[in-house]
Amino acid sequence: MTRLILFGGPGSGKGTQAAFLVDYLEVPHISTGDILRAEKADKTELGQQAQAFMDRGELVPDQVVVDMVANRMAQPDAEAGWLMDGFPRNTSQAIVFEQMLDKINQPYDCLLFLDVPPLTLNQRALNRRQQMAQSGQQRSDDTPETILKRLTVYEQETLPMILNYQKHPKFIYIDGTLSVEEVTASIKRSIAKGGVN
Ligand code: AP5
Repeated sequence: MTRLILFGGPGSGKGTQAAFLVDYLEVPHISTGDILRAEKADKTELGQQAQAFMDRGELVPDQVVVDMVANRMAQPDAEAGWLMDGFPRNTSQAIVFEQMLDKINQPYDCLLFLDVPPLTLNQRALNRRQQMAQSGQQRSDDTPETILKRLTVYEQETLPMILNYQKHPKFIYIDGTLSVEEVTASIKRSIAKGGVN
């Protein structure tokens, strides 16, 4: 049974490392950003509700995201564990999520924080924008202005929540500025020490 939460700024490598971790740990990847983008693409009511917030680089209202996560966690594949990416993202979401986990008796094993400074986050997001454009893809929240807004939201709303978890016994700090392979190796070592896998 493995339950992990990945914390980090926009462009810190959460999605990149999650792609490796879900295979390694054999758990589903629950990415609130991916779910919201899929809802947007399918033009569902939820997707349409979220679109304007995402395109402005703001957080989608807490209740919308909390209900979405609760629905996803109720699916059978999540009974055997999960990797949470992009949630919780502010103190209110963290409080509700802790209550939700207590209620369903699903404690997490690790909180992994991919620490990357703002200038690097900004550069990585701009690089990804360029790479995606070259392959004919686009993420509507990867414009230079929206990237800056997402960074501001991260610093104002998400980072304080992460810092509140710093002294938690399950909190693991990862230097996210290293290469992708080095970050992966560091995560593997850390979760093994934490008794996961
Ligand atoms: P979300 O999809 O969660 O986006 P994000 O947090 O901004 O993160 P990214 O997907 O941009 O980056 P990442 O950390 O996954 O990095 P990646 O691996 O891609 O959220 C999008 C929006 O949805 C939010 O703005 C909000 O509106 C809404 N939303 C989502 N969750 C919500 C919630 N809980 N509440 C309310 N609203 C919510 O890597 C980035 C780039 O860097 C890539 O090009 C990659 O190749 C490169 N890279 C990765 N690792 C390294 C490395 N070690 N060295 C060099 N380059 C690297």
